[in-house]
Amino acid sequence: MLNGTTWSLARFGARLRQAGDLARPPQKKLSRVLSIASGKGGTGKSIVATNLAVQRARRGERVCLVDFDAGMANAHLLLGVAPRFDLGHVLDGEISAGYALVEAPGGLQLLSGGVGRAALANPTRKELERLFEALQPLEEAFDLVIVDHGAGLSYATMAHLAASSALLVVTTHEVTSLSDAYALYKHVTTVNPRVQAGVVMNRSPDEATAHAAWERFRGASQRFLTRTPEFVGWVPMDEAVVRSVQARVPVSLREPESRAARALATVASWPAIDTARGTGSFYAAARRALR
Ligand SMILES: Nc1ncnc2c1ncn2[C@@H]1O[C@H](COP(=O)(O)OP(=O)(O)OP(=O)(O)O)[C@@H](O)[C@H]1O
Ligand SMILES: [Mg+2]
Repeated sequence: MLNGTTWSLARFGARLRQAGDLARPPQKKLSRVLSIASGKGGTGKSIVATNLAVQRARRGERVCLVDFDAGMANAHLLLGVAPRFDLGHVLDGEISAGYALVEAPGGLQLLSGGVGRAALANPTRKELERLFEALQPLEEAFDLVIVDHGAGLSYATMAHLAASSALLVVTTHEVTSLSDAYALYKHVTTVNPRVQAGVVMNRSPDEATAHAAWERFRGASQRFLTRTPEFVGWVPMDEAVVRSVQARVPVSLREPESRAARALATVASWPAIDTARGTGSFYAAARRALR
């Protein structure tokens, strides 16, 4: 298991600093950004986010996972790393986003959300604006940025979702979870009609239950919103996930042949992740969404 050595930035940091110093050429290729959100808490967003990040990194992409469950972060626990810095240090202007990164299993880079920081849990508009500006250089250094959100529609999540080209909504088959997922999807389609949204049905006892739940979601979306997200896949309730949380090693690495890991590999192949790019900078769009 990796320990939490803060990434030295010998190679990568130089690139990030350069990205900040030099005038940005207008045609520069920016990273794709995938948001992972849910209505209800505890549906499995962080399990999906960490395993997707691992899987995409292992396929050769430069992946950055931003744990934006700010103030209540736990992606570092799921990945078994101990970051020295987090979004709070970036927000305070103590360090750049690049310096806050920590290398995590599979070769991905994690920007942790910090634990127990009030300013991060409830940032003001100005603080968020500053934070988004500080995160913008990441877009020039990675192929894919995955943002793991807290449950529900916080101010920060709303700004991210308004700017997102691709969104994964993680829900379970339970009616409360489905209903909250629908509310989140409805909100996103209002503020960001062009978003490519997908649904992951997590912790399902079996395929029939997952598909029945998806049909309920799809039916309500079609009827009331006249559009539906894509069904990206279902992930079984699997003890291998529970064991991986205890071991602090993502299930995709610890038990790659488990049912959950194989299902998560399918989710990681969602084609929208390959095209999750807006017309310009994601973080600039997120800043505009705050106004
Ligand atoms: N497919 C699964 N099979 C078994 N257990 C699972 C599965 N997915 C998630 N879990 C369990 O649910 C717990 C919560 O998952 P996770 O932390 O990913 O949820 P979350 O949506 O990120 O929660 P929060 O809203 O608090 O951020 C995990 O620690 C794990 O024990
Ligand atoms: Mg989480």
